[in-house]
Amino acid sequence: MKQPQPSSPVAVVGAGSIGVAFALVFARANVPVRIWDPAASRRSAVLPELEARLGDLASYDLLAEAAGTILERVTVCDELVTAVAGAQYVQECAPERVELKQELFAELDRLAPPQAVLASSSSFLLASSFAADLPGRGRCLVAHPGNPPYLIPVIELVPAPFTEGVATQRAEALLALVGLSPVHVRREVEGFIFNRLQGALLREAYCLVRDGVASVKDVDRVVRDGLGRRWAHIGPFETADLNTRGGIAAHAERMGPSYARMGAERGQDDAWTPDLVAQVERERRAILPAEEWEARVAWRDRQLMAALKARQGA
Ligand SMILES: NC(=O)c1ccc[n+]([C@@H]2O[C@H](COP(=O)([O-])OP(=O)(O)OC[C@H]3O[C@@H](n4cnc5c(N)ncnc54)[C@H](O)[C@@H]3O)[C@@H](O)[C@H]2O)c1
Repeated sequence: MKQPQPSSPVAVVGAGSIGVAFALVFARANVPVRIWDPAASRRSAVLPELEARLGDLASYDLLAEAAGTILERVTVCDELVTAVAGAQYVQECAPERVELKQELFAELDRLAPPQAVLASSSSFLLASSFAADLPGRGRCLVAHPGNPPYLIPVIELVPAPFTEGVATQRAEALLALVGLSPVHVRREVEGFIFNRLQGALLREAYCLVRDGVASVKDVDRVVRDGLGRRWAHIGPFETADLNTRGGIAAHAERMGPSYARMGAERGQDDAWTPDLVAQVERERRAILPAEEWEARVAWRDRQLMAALKARQGA
């Protein structure tokens, strides 16, 4: 596999919220960026917006070098063809409309060097819906970021069935190199992982407000002052694993029936079967052997203390 080259340029196509933020991610990691947008007003906004964000990052002491040095790595291009010429990787950040992405990916496949990976920031559209008919479809995939990607490192890699493994591997290597945290979505599903998890919580939040159980403010407080505090450090599986002595299998045994009743109330029948719980338990124990449970609980608590301290200083 050809390794990513920090010195060879990447192209960012579309200079709205996500495009500008991606330019910052790559430039900050010493990768030259060429960015293009069809709107002249957006092209002229790129450098001032980057300057302002770099200023904010510097004021939090989050830059390893001078803002001007980072800014110099970004070139705003007047033509798409100039932006993608010589690019090792293209991050498409255009509006979330399938016809638009179909046309744009056809252009990118025609204009970008044959070895360039073509990644879409799409939040919901699948590469199958906009790249299936292209001669170069093997190099197309979705790379869905958090917003903004220079502050939220997770990025979901979603290959279509036709995406070649080497394209996904090259995207993963480059994105990890620039400090992002790539996660594989093993098959194309609407909403990927991020928005499916977010959606599950939001659907229940709407139901709680509709049923008069809680105010909007209180739902947000339960997440902000409760669940979210832990989730800044550990995910829902690790939370369950660490919250119950005996780990996640004991959690499923004790709490599973209650969660099953809550699901049934919402018309959901996705039982935590013994096989499924055993699989989750196996994956958790591979990450955290049972004998390290106490130490990890203490680590989680220290993480919460450090965050509390940082909040007090903010
Ligand atoms: N905003 C978010 O929270 C978020 C998070 C993750 C992913 N995304 C995805 O990133 C993509 C971009 O979203 P955004 O929030 O930056 O939108 P945005 O509206 O801020 O920016 C889109 C930019 O694309 C430009 N554009 C219009 N037509 C174009 C074309 N044919 N080719 C190239 N650029 C074109 C527009 O001029 C605009 O500057 C979408 O697919 C969106 O779903 C957004």
